[in-house]
Amino acid sequence: MRLLLLCPLLCIAMASCVPKPKKNYTAEEIAGVEQVHEVMRVNAHYADPLFALRDNASFSDEQFAQIVDASKMLQASAAHMASKFAVKGDSRETGFYDEGFIDLSRTMEENAKALLAAGEAKNAAAASEALNAMRGTCQSCHSIYK
Ligand code: HEC
Repeated sequence: MRLLLLCPLLCIAMASCVPKPKKNYTAEEIAGVEQVHEVMRVNAHYADPLFALRDNASFSDEQFAQIVDASKMLQASAAHMASKFAVKGDSRETGFYDEGFIDLSRTMEENAKALLAAGEAKNAAAASEALNAMRGTCQSCHSIYK
């Protein structure tokens, strides 16, 4: 009984109680995903565990490997977001997002590239900086478009 009560409470407490993506997509497969919310679930799946480490002064080799894997997915996802879900022009007419969405997707793509470089170089300070920058980009976009 206690456990049953605890689950929803944990969900509320843990801000990131996002349903899992339907499958483990490869970076190539992400470009075929049609729904924004599914792409976002992929983003959360890869980014949220790393955001929890964003202010770490150091990372283990496993964590750097996780950073490298995740940043490749996040880069592919951001490129897909920019090309698939946004069009230039009036978003109300097209049902798609406007160019501000493209800009923020491109920023996320840059953040992911910086994160990949930091992960490959095993540079903790750069990884921390890139994670904080990316988290800011997610939040900026959500404050406008979500
Ligand atoms: C360019 C804009 C943009 C960026 C950047 C962005 N998001 Fe989103 N996000 C959205 C929009 C729009 C929605 C609402 C989509 C919907 O419900 O159809 C959303 C929804 C979500 C959701 C809810 C998904 C669900 O199950 O309904 C999660 C989780 C999420 N985003 C995570 C992230 C994470 C993590 C990042 C950064 C790594 C990120 N997003 C970056 C625009 C963005």
